[in-house]
Amino acid sequence: MRSTKISIFLMLPVVILAMVQCKSNKVPQLGKDPVKDVIAAMTLEEKAFFVTGTGMIFPGLNMPGDTSAPTPGAPVVGETQKLVPGAAGTTYEIPRLGIPSMVLSDGPAGLRISPKRENDSATYYCTAFPIATLLASSWDTALIGMVGQAMGNDILEYGADIILGPGMNIQRNPLCGRNFEYYSEDPYVTGKMAAAMVNGVESMGVGTSIKHFAANNAETNRMGLNTIVSERALREIYLEGFRIAVEEAQPWTVMSSYNLINGTMASESNDLLTKVLRDDWGFKGCVMTDWFGGRDAVAQMKAGNDLLMPGTPQQAKMIYDAVKAGKLDVVMLDRNIERILNILLETPRFKGYKYSNKPDLTGHATVVRQAATEGMVLLKNENSALPLASNVKTIATFGTATFETIIGGVGSGDVNEAYAVSIADGLKNAGYTPDESLVNAYLSYIKKTRESMPKAKNPLMALMGVKEPVPEMKIDAALAAQMAAKADVAVITIGRISGEAADRLVDNDFNLSVTEKALITVVSKAFHARGKKVVVLLNVGGVVETASWKDQPDAVLIVWQGGQEMGNSVADIVSGKVNPSGKLAITFPVRYADGSTVKDFPGIVLETEPTSQESPKEDDLSSFMQPKASKIVYEEGIYVGYRYYETFGVRPSYAFGYGLSYTTFEYGNIKLSSDKFSDQITISVDVKNSGGVAGKEAVQLYLAAPAKKLDKPALEFKGFAKTKL
Ligand code: GLC
Repeated sequence: MRSTKISIFLMLPVVILAMVQCKSNKVPQLGKDPVKDVIAAMTLEEKAFFVTGTGMIFPGLNMPGDTSAPTPGAPVVGETQKLVPGAAGTTYEIPRLGIPSMVLSDGPAGLRISPKRENDSATYYCTAFPIATLLASSWDTALIGMVGQAMGNDILEYGADIILGPGMNIQRNPLCGRNFEYYSEDPYVTGKMAAAMVNGVESMGVGTSIKHFAANNAETNRMGLNTIVSERALREIYLEGFRIAVEEAQPWTVMSSYNLINGTMASESNDLLTKVLRDDWGFKGCVMTDWFGGRDAVAQMKAGNDLLMPGTPQQAKMIYDAVKAGKLDVVMLDRNIERILNILLETPRFKGYKYSNKPDLTGHATVVRQAATEGMVLLKNENSALPLASNVKTIATFGTATFETIIGGVGSGDVNEAYAVSIADGLKNAGYTPDESLVNAYLSYIKKTRESMPKAKNPLMALMGVKEPVPEMKIDAALAAQMAAKADVAVITIGRISGEAADRLVDNDFNLSVTEKALITVVSKAFHARGKKVVVLLNVGGVVETASWKDQPDAVLIVWQGGQEMGNSVADIVSGKVNPSGKLAITFPVRYADGSTVKDFPGIVLETEPTSQESPKEDDLSSFMQPKASKIVYEEGIYVGYRYYETFGVRPSYAFGYGLSYTTFEYGNIKLSSDKFSDQITISVDVKNSGGVAGKEAVQLYLAAPAKKLDKPALEFKGFAKTKL
C-alpha cells in the first residue's frame, strides 16, 4: 500500500500543475507580483517540493532509508540537472508561477560540471583554481577577489546560478581530509579570505554558499559525528570566520554542515541557523543543507534550513504530511520559501541571462598562474639555492609528484579542467632541461606501478575514478651520484592528495614515508658532495612533517596544490621571475602529537547501531553515506593552532605567519593612533625593502591582551596588509 500511496503522491506535482493551469490564467508571476502573492498561489504539494531539491542520481547508491525511489511517471529525480549536466543539484521549477529552477554547482576551487555531454561535440571544461589553503597563504584579499571574479565568469557563462563554496571551516587538526578546501587555523584570516572570495564571485551576478556551517572539522563519520564544543570556542573560533563573511559579504546562501553540534544536527539547529546566523549576524539569504545532510526534514524547516539538497521525494512527503497533520505551521514553510524566492530573483537564470558556454578560460588561466605564485611559501633558502642561478640548465627532477603533480583535492572540491601543467612541464616551459634518463626512469616506474595499484581507499576517490598517487620511487646512492655528476641542481617534489569522505593518516601521509626521507637524504648527500644545491618542493594540500629532514636540502618551498597552471607557477618562483611572498596561514608542528587536537581525532565511534538500517559495507560509498554515530570533544577550547603553540610554549617547525622572500624588509616608525585602547585603534608602520629585488610583504598585526578574569591566548591575529615594494 505504501508504494502505491507514494507513487500517487509523487504524481501530484505533475497532475496538480496541469489541473491548476486550465482553471485560471490569472496566477501571480514571480518578479511581476509580490513574492507573498506567488507563495499564496502555490499548492501545498508545490511548496513541499520547492523546499527540497530535484534530487541526485548517484549510480548504484541506495540512500540511507530512502525507499521512495521515483516511480515510473513521477518527476524524474534529478531531471532538471540536465540544465547544466554535472551540477550538484537543482531546485524545482513551477512554470505556472514564473518560477525557474536554480542550478547549484560545486566547488571552492572552481566550477565542477561534466566536461562532455551526450550528442554534443562541445566541451565544458572549467578553470581549476588554486586551493583555499594556498589562497590564504597569499595574505592578499584583492588577489582573492580577482580569483573570485574569474570563477564567477565560469559560473555565469556555463549557466550555473550558485557555486557551493567557499569552504571555510577552521583547520583544527592537520589530518582533516578537506583542509585543502579551507583557509586557515585562524578565524580572522578565514573570514577575511572568505569575504573576499564571496564579494569577487558575487560581483559577477552569481551566488555563493559559504560552508560547512559549522564546526565540521573532520570527514570520518561526518554525518554522524557529534562535535562537543564550548560556547566560547564555538563563537571565538568556529563561528567567527562565518560571522565576518556574513557581515562583510552577505553571501547569497549558507550551507549547513553534516555534523551535530552539542547533540543537535547543525541543519536542525534553530540556535545556529536562526538565533546566531539571522538574529545575531543579520544574514538575509537562504540556508541549504549539505547533500543528504540531516535526518528530520520537519525539524530542518523549523530551524530555518530553508532548502534541503539535493532533495528526495521522501523529504517532500514528510513536509507535506507534517503540514497536513498540523505538525508544521505552513507560515514557517512560507517563510523558508520566501527566502529561497528572494535569492532566486537574483539569479542569472531568473533574469533570463543568455549564457554563452564560453567563459574566458584563457584569461582565467593567467589569473590561476599569478594567484598560485602569490600563495607559495618559501620556508628555507640557504646558500642562495633559490632563485636558481642563471647558469643552471639541467635539473635532476626527483619525486613522482614532479610528473603526476597534484593540482587540487578530491571529492566535490575537484574540478574538471582541460589541462594541468605538471612541475616537470613547467620547468621545461621555463627553459630548464630535466635530466632525460631520470625522467624516463620515473615515467616507466609510474606506468608500471599504476597498472598494479588497488582501487583508491577513499570511497569517493574510488567512485570518481581518481587515481591515488603511486608510492615514491626508491633512489639509490649510485643513481643519486650519477645525477649529481650530470645535473646542475636537484629538485625533489613530495606530493600529497586528500579529499572529501576520508581523513588523512599520520604515517606515510603527515609523516613522510621511509622512501621519501631516504630520497631527500641520498640526493642531498650526493649533490652536496659536488657542491650543488637541492630544493624540496611540497606539493601538498595541508600540513606535513618537516622538522626531521628540513636541515638536509638547501631550500624548501611549499607549492601547495596550485591549480591547472601550477607547473608554470613553480617555475616562475624557482627561476626568480616571481619573488615568493606567501606566509603560512597554518602551523607546521614538529610532530603531529604536539598538537592540541590530537586526542580522539577524528572522533570516537559510539557503541550503538549504525545510524541507518543497513550495516555499512566498508568498501563502498554506502559506508560513507551511512556513518556510525561518533563523538569528539574539543577539549582544547580556543587553543587551536598558534593560539595553542604560542600560549603553551610548544615550538613548531614552521610557525603561523612564517614565510621568506628573495629580498629582506625592515619595519620601523610604528605609530598607534592612541595610547589607550577603546573600540578602535589604528596602527601604522613603515616597511622598507632592504634587499636587492622587488618583493611583496604581508604585514601582520597580533594583539596580546592581559589575561585578567578570563584566560586568553598569548596573542591573537588581528590584522594584515600586503605591500608591493
Ligand atoms: C558534499 C560536500 C559539499 C558539496 C555537496 C555537493 O557532500 O560536503 O561540500 O558542496 O556535497 O556536492
